[in-house]
This record gives sequence, structure tokens and C-alpha cells, in this order.
Amino acid sequence: MKIALLPGDGIGPEVTRPAAQVLVAAATRGRAFVLTEAPIGGAGVAAAGDPLPEATARLAEDSDAILFGAAGIAGDTLLPATQRPGAGLLRLRKRLGLYANYRPAVLYPELIDASSLKPGIVRGLDLMILRELNGDAYFGEPRGIAADASGERVGVNTMRYTESEIRRIAHAGFRLARARKGKLCSVDKANVLEVMKLWREVVTAVGREYPDVALSHMFVDAAAMHLLRRPTDFDVIVTGNMFGDILSDEAAMLTGSIGMLPSASLGADRRGLYEPVHGSAPDIAGQDVANPLGAILSAAMLLRFSADDAAGADRIEAAVRAVLAQGLRTADIHTPGTTRVGTAAMGAAVLAAL
Ligand code: IPM
Ligand code: MG
Repeated sequence: MKIALLPGDGIGPEVTRPAAQVLVAAATRGRAFVLTEAPIGGAGVAAAGDPLPEATARLAEDSDAILFGAAGIAGDTLLPATQRPGAGLLRLRKRLGLYANYRPAVLYPELIDASSLKPGIVRGLDLMILRELNGDAYFGEPRGIAADASGERVGVNTMRYTESEIRRIAHAGFRLARARKGKLCSVDKANVLEVMKLWREVVTAVGREYPDVALSHMFVDAAAMHLLRRPTDFDVIVTGNMFGDILSDEAAMLTGSIGMLPSASLGADRRGLYEPVHGSAPDIAGQDVANPLGAILSAAMLLRFSADDAAGADRIEAAVRAVLAQGLRTADIHTPGTTRVGTAAMGAAVLAAL
């Protein structure tokens, strides 16, 4: 299996390294992995003047799966849009047609005290946010900053979804709910935005093909509230690119730390991009304090979705549970009575548990 290893920026390299080791060690299907590393994000700009160097994009296209770290450098919002590290990731998602972004938020019982919410609220949390990844204000045209007739500058982005874009992510949502607890909550803003009115109409229509799935709809503001009030009500949330970006960070915090969360981005076939939900965290990069478990659990998703190796994925998830049960914690999930370890030691512990 050809794997493109794109560590990117900040803590990306230090979390991707153990994730790649765990991937190779956990696979059960006797597959040989060929891992090829390439720069992306700020590292792409440094190496080739582009956050998505053409050689990196080609490598990704030519791979069966991509293990991605993070994109982002300190002060990058001041850079021109095309030079921003995050733009490399966005272009890659679009170019490979990876439109469905799976972001599970699972609370490990050992981490219940690391959550900022009361244990009674987050106990048993196991939800999945399915975020559309190729449309919305992220890609809609027109966009830009330009002067109007009076000379005042105006910033414009366009929230845009076609019926077919909504339909394909809705199908993915229903299929996912069917494989889980059978509940799908579609999150929109249909009370204000036409694009979201269409979203609700199309999701409802697709839902008629899945009578066994309980479909509900929620406005995004209410969903943000409900996630803090009764998060265990949710099974699968399907939503657009922008709302999904925001809600998935919120859901992450329910689990104790965004450092724990993996994600998978898939398109029409088995090829996927796997990345921890956390960003590049330039403030802690290179200090051996980042949590590698989000990246390691992303490797598990890679085995499950792109390598058809559910047993290997289960092994990784069991190893992560084992190190948590041993009381090992990185700084972000450290609570009194547990043992604080660095990034490399945590990675080594997962390998040992495997
Ligand atoms: C994410 C990130 C990205 C996004 C950034 C880095 C462009 O926040 O994957 O959630 O907004 O999609
Ligand atoms: Mg985000």
C-alpha cells in the first residue's frame, strides 16, 4: 500500500512519526507499506514556494492513503491567501475530491476528568460529526476583498451548495447512521439562509430512502448549545463545511482534549486522507509535549477505511485504551494521579502495547 506521509508544520512531524510507526506495526493483513514523505503547508512554502507543491499533490494522487499532520505557522493569517499553509490542505481535499470528513468524538472513560464538562454530561459520549468538505463558504465564488464604488473595502465569501453536493454527503450520513445507532441529525441554518433551506430539503428527500434511520434537523446555534447540554443524545451529525469546522472543535473539547481526536476524509473510492483534528500548535512545537494519540487514532481510521483492515484498526484502538489504563497522559489530558509523559514516550507506549 502506498502511503503519502505529509507531516506539515508545527507539531505535525512529531505526532505523525509515531502514527506512521504504529500504522506499520498494527496492520494485520500482511500488507507491505511504502511510505513516502513530502512537504505541505508552511513546509511546502519553505521547500517549493507553495503550500501544496505540485510534487506533493501528485504523490497524494498516486497513493492509496495519506497520513497528514497539520498545516499552519505562527502569524499565518497575515500571509496572502495563496501562501497560507492551510490553503495547501484545502486544495488537497478539493483536488482529490475528499468530500466527506468523518470526525468521531468519543470519550474514553479514563479521561472523564479531563473534560471541561461535568462527568454526568459526557459519560458515554460517542458521536460522529460528518462534515462536508468540498463546498460551502470555503470554496464558493465570488470571494475576495475589493473596494466598492465609494472606495471602501468589502470582504466577500459565498456560502454555496449544489443539490448533488448535498445529496452525496446526505447519503454518506445515512449510511453511517445505519452502521451505528441509527440516528442522524442534520445541522443547518434553514431559518435564515437559502442555501441551508435547500440543504434541509435535499437531506429530507434523501431520508425517504432510509426509513430505518431516525432523521432530525437542528439549527446550528441550537446544535452548539445541545452539544454542551446533552451531547450523548447525538449519534451522527451531518453538516456543511463551515458549521462542521466549528462544531467539531466544540465536540472535541467534550472528550477532554482535541489532541485525542482523529479524522478521515474520503471521496468516492477507498482513498482517504487521515489527520488529527488538532492543528499545528506552533506554540508547543518541538517541545515533546504534544499528544500523538489523535494522529495514532487517525492511523487506525486509515486501516479501517482505506486498507480494509478492521482488525488492525481495533488493535490500535485497544493499544490506546491500554496506555490510558496504564495512567499515561500527555500534558493536555494530564490530571492528578496520572503519569505525565511526552510525545515520544506516549508513542513508544502505544507501540509497546501493540
Ligand atoms: C480543520 C482546520 C482547517 C479547516 C484549516 C487548517 C484550514 O481548521 O481541518 O478543521 O478550516 O478546515
Ligand atoms: Mg477546524
